[in-house]
Amino acid sequence: MILREMMPEDLEQVMEIEERLFSHPWTREGFFTFLMKSNAMFLVVEEKGQILGYCGCLLVLDEGDITNVAVKKERQEEGIGSFMIDGLIRFCRERGVTLLHLEVRKGNQKAIRLYERNGFKMDGYRKNYYTDPSEDAVLMSRTEGI
Ligand SMILES: CC(C)(COP(=O)(O)OP(=O)(O)OC[C@H]1O[C@@H](n2cnc3c(N)ncnc32)[C@H](O)[C@@H]1OP(=O)(O)O)[C@@H](O)C(=O)NCCC(=O)NCCS
Repeated sequence: MILREMMPEDLEQVMEIEERLFSHPWTREGFFTFLMKSNAMFLVVEEKGQILGYCGCLLVLDEGDITNVAVKKERQEEGIGSFMIDGLIRFCRERGVTLLHLEVRKGNQKAIRLYERNGFKMDGYRKNYYTDPSEDAVLMSRTEGI
């Protein structure tokens, strides 16, 4: 299992995972646009040519905004999410990032626990941030060791 930068050739597999997991999936064009940005960092976890998960963030000065985190449904709860977030933090550190932040659905306890295990702390809430279904966002960030 390796962690590497996402390439346009990965998008077919990435889209399969994305469309199964999210009520408002990103489009292929959306991912492609981000991959072309010099301040975006998108990573995939790959095993024998299969994409198992991916994550991405946008870097602005010394801050990173995590925009995507996903692990293929049938490969969740094997530690891939943690492996990926740990790697993303490392890559960000190498690019000079000192603050990482993200939003997550308040009811997505699995993701919140994943971020907490990886050093993120809750900063607050954003009321009714999400739609389908409508839900508050939890705002989280990590500064230590970044
Ligand atoms: C959130 C998400 C990325 C987590 O990925 P994951 O690969 O399942 O994460 P991990 O395996 O590292 O951790 C998940 C759980 O499995 C457990 N686990 C990890 N390795 C394990 C193993 N080898 N055996 C058994 N359990 C294990 C972890 O302890 C953790 O338990 P917890 O939820 O009770 O704390 C994944 O569930 C997902 O893609 N969800 C849908 C998309 C999503 O919500 N993305 C986040 C948007 S902000």
